[in-house]
Amino acid sequence: MTALTLSTAAAPGLRADAIVIGVAKGAASKASGPVVAPGAEAVDQAYDGRLAGVLETLGASGAEGEVTKLPAPAGFKAPLVVAVGLGTQPEKDAAYDAEALRRAAGVAARALAGSKKAAFALPLTDAADAGAIAEGVLLGAYSFDAYKGNAPSGAAAKDGKNGRAPLAEAALLGGKPRDKAYKAALERATAVAEELNRARDLINTPPNDLNPEAFAAIAQAAAKEHGIKVQVLDEKALTKGGYGGILGVGAGSASGPRLVKLSYTSSKAKRHLAFVGKGITYDSGGISLKPAGHNETMKCDMSGAAAVFAAVVAAARLGLEVNVTGWLALAENMPSGSATRPGDVLRMYSGKTVEVLNTDAEGRLVLADALWAASQEKPDAIVDVATLTGAMMLALGSRTFGIMANDDAFRTAVHEAAEQVGEPAWPMPLPEHLRKGMESATADIANMGERMGGGLVAGLFLREFVGEGITWAHLDIAGPAFNEGGPFGYTPKGGTGSAVRTLVRLAELASAGELG
Ligand code: BES
Ligand code: MN
Ligand code: ZN
Repeated sequence: MTALTLSTAAAPGLRADAIVIGVAKGAASKASGPVVAPGAEAVDQAYDGRLAGVLETLGASGAEGEVTKLPAPAGFKAPLVVAVGLGTQPEKDAAYDAEALRRAAGVAARALAGSKKAAFALPLTDAADAGAIAEGVLLGAYSFDAYKGNAPSGAAAKDGKNGRAPLAEAALLGGKPRDKAYKAALERATAVAEELNRARDLINTPPNDLNPEAFAAIAQAAAKEHGIKVQVLDEKALTKGGYGGILGVGAGSASGPRLVKLSYTSSKAKRHLAFVGKGITYDSGGISLKPAGHNETMKCDMSGAAAVFAAVVAAARLGLEVNVTGWLALAENMPSGSATRPGDVLRMYSGKTVEVLNTDAEGRLVLADALWAASQEKPDAIVDVATLTGAMMLALGSRTFGIMANDDAFRTAVHEAAEQVGEPAWPMPLPEHLRKGMESATADIANMGERMGGGLVAGLFLREFVGEGITWAHLDIAGPAFNEGGPFGYTPKGGTGSAVRTLVRLAELASAGELG
């Protein structure tokens, strides 16, 4: 990953491949052109104060996502200036918001792939800004090329990896290298981004290389490294324990299911959070097979488990004063002679019976068992994360996740946590009347209900498997988990690491005694 430093150096004397500056859209009231953001004063001076005009001549407007490259002014050691758009300039005296900085830093890091060192001269007023820029750089520089150009011999090996190497080093100008708050902000950004990028790697890894057993082994190794207690239930243990949901979903696959429990504990903890992740390493739909065109990206169906895994490890690395238990419900959903059939009834870990009407509604089945298992420890709150329904994508689009909960205040708290870290999210209801559609003639409940409001139906199903009196929220990340379009901001193509930062923020709030 990109190496980060805080630097007090002045831009002209800096040896680097490029200097990154910010350019914003002039506030509407002024109706002016682009404006140079604070942090770039030295560059502007070297252009005799004409930098805004130069940028405008080059076509820059300051819009978010925009990159304008220009030769560095005479006297600068770095040859190149990269101006990134920050969006509309904040009102008088207000600072740029963290998410604008994070995105701009991400865009710049991506544009600088292949470079060794860049100096970031973006507006930076405090340690939190430094943390946001650092996070943007580390997340934006991400690339997944483990499967490219690595042939042991032949032409591919000679050509090397297809893409350009990620930016190797970033110096944040204006940061205070000896200031505790700045150092802590960079450490936090590094821990969160490293774990988030690892979640992206897991999501992007093809399903022939990441089955439940392989995922569990990776979790086990990481837990060991970070002093997290880990327990893996394999098929034998799941059978013994009566985990009918996880076993039923995994029944058709040659790779057996797993339930992984990660326990991070702090001696100073006053709160206990449980995070539960859907970990379908591949969702073919099972006997209710998905049609062509709907399964090409279904390696992403373990994004919830990847997010939970990353968040627990990040909480441990940050030494948060909260107990966090992560549950990874891992299975591969495949059709075969041993697969669960539409019409089968499963006896779940909670004891409830479920009539499986559609084997493609498998996420709620593995989550039901994991939610019940998590409930047995009576945590203060449970948050599950899942690429659960196509319906949630239709409702909220591909960048926003839905939040459902059995407690209005907690749903709001989760939404606020998401906003604080720059993850678009929106509260969704759990309308009671939709429960009726899941009534089964044979079992306690069916795994499908009305088509309309399918994301909410899934949420209502999950609610039945949360222990009495336990506060619970459900994040349906089907939209934002996997980016099928081009990269934007600090979000790459493919696995995004959606919900990781929201979960980490919740753990931080609980650690600070600010969550419920
Ligand atoms: N993993 C899918 C949901 C999904 C779809 C995630 C697209 C990401 C992108 C889930 O298991 C599923 O198949 N859900 C069904 C439920 C239906 C059968 C009730 C769906 O949404 O169509
Ligand atoms: Mn499915
Ligand atoms: Zn699925």
